[in-house]
Amino acid sequence: MNDAALQLARGLVEPHMIDAAHEAVRSNASLVHSLIAQRRMPAEPWPRPLIVQFLHQLAAMDTNNFAGHAGGGEREGRVYSSLVAERHYYMTHGIGRSGDLTADQPKAAGSSLLAKLNNAMVLDALRTAGLTKTEAAVTLPMATGMSLALVLQAVRQSRPDPAAARYVIWPRIDQKTSLKCIATAGLMPIVVELAPAAVKSARDGAASCCSELTMLSVRPDDVAAAIARIATSDPAGVNAIVCVLSTTSCFAPRVPDDTLAIARVCLANSVPLVVNNAYGLQSRAITKRLDAALALGGVAAFVQSGDKNFLTPVGGAVVAGRKSVVAAVSALYPGRASAAPIVDLFITLLEMGRSGWTKLHRDRVDLHEVFLQRAAAFAEARGEELLQHPGNDISIAMTLRNWRQHSALRGAASEADGASPPVTDATALGAHLFRHRVTGPKVVLSAANNSKTVCGIRFVGYGAHGSVARDGGDAPPLLVLACGVGMTAAELELLFARLEAAYPLLKQA
Ligand SMILES: Cc1ncc(COP(=O)(O)O)c(C=O)c1O
Repeated sequence: MNDAALQLARGLVEPHMIDAAHEAVRSNASLVHSLIAQRRMPAEPWPRPLIVQFLHQLAAMDTNNFAGHAGGGEREGRVYSSLVAERHYYMTHGIGRSGDLTADQPKAAGSSLLAKLNNAMVLDALRTAGLTKTEAAVTLPMATGMSLALVLQAVRQSRPDPAAARYVIWPRIDQKTSLKCIATAGLMPIVVELAPAAVKSARDGAASCCSELTMLSVRPDDVAAAIARIATSDPAGVNAIVCVLSTTSCFAPRVPDDTLAIARVCLANSVPLVVNNAYGLQSRAITKRLDAALALGGVAAFVQSGDKNFLTPVGGAVVAGRKSVVAAVSALYPGRASAAPIVDLFITLLEMGRSGWTKLHRDRVDLHEVFLQRAAAFAEARGEELLQHPGNDISIAMTLRNWRQHSALRGAASEADGASPPVTDATALGAHLFRHRVTGPKVVLSAANNSKTVCGIRFVGYGAHGSVARDGGDAPPLLVLACGVGMTAAELELLFARLEAAYPLLKQA
């Protein structure tokens, strides 16, 4: 209602009541005004009714919602189902226009404004999370892998000889999307195997010089060597390389890449660096290094998942980094885009505000401390070893060395009691936990027992990112766990209660 209508309303309802209501309407309008003027996340969460009201206001600016509208084209944002229209807040034209995701959609001023505000808030969220040197960000309506494929193609086109550029130098990570995105882009991965990294052991509580096991990380020198090999063997030289695709967030026993050191290698060789930062925004260790790499000017783009960082349904990702690269990615996107993941993120950021976003990260860091303590106590009580690294402040791995013997002993005991026998096979532990409503933990077998071919490449020790045995021998199975953003203290307790039930302590004889 505008001011004139409210004036008229004073003739129908007690004027002092209308004046108070007018004040409330004005204060909501000033929040909307600040959002558009400042182009940042609101400092505090918006009330949900205001978010809904704003969404309806934006929808009213789209031509499909104009009163008396007559559409004479083939794409008029017509939606058959009122349920579907409602699910999308009546914004049905999508985002962007053929040929540019960030261009205004001519039939949808409201949706276009929403997309611009969303990208501005996302940029603010990245900077608030510690990536202060980020120049630009765009939300893509595709998950991380597809977004990475688009980024790789955009970077390829920026190379001096795009037709010759076909290799992506890829420090190994045993997560299929991370490799498949290279194949989807029609490019060829050059795998850089990982090397032993310093690790903490629950047994000795100190540096892992004494442990037979190790976490794994990529050596920047090995990345440099891979670049040099292509540069000297391919007729196009270094121009045959599209980029280095480095990964930050990852499951133990892998350590996130040192993006700063890799950025230095890339700058020295004039090779772009793309970073798969799938769920890295929640990690201080990751963001600190990535921000330093951005400050150095060594990162073309970095990509992060919508769901794993911002707690939205799967379907969106954020591409950020250099302004020119983000613009090139937006321009490469063919056609209009689904607005759904963008609307989800827009709503989420308004409902979170900057205070909610920072609290989410603070809470995770606090919970991670408890996670480590619980995991260390669990491992120690069972004579197992914890593999952790300060560079990976999200995930840990734990040996299942004594698991088989432990389970066999319990099996004998439970058979005598007539109870169902416990799980004895390490891989069955994962399935057992899943059946008991625990998702996420993975059981990883030793290198000798576990090879896999992905995108035509054979990986030894798949899941463990290589061999974690220092002496090249065989390693015990590992249980891999993560403390991800949004996890609650109650969830953590439940997780360990279920782990304890699945792997109980043996009663003293
Ligand atoms: C390192 C990494 N990259 C990519 C992905 C998958 O991304 P998406 O399913 O969003 O494409 C994951 C999933 O967990 C991941 O861990």
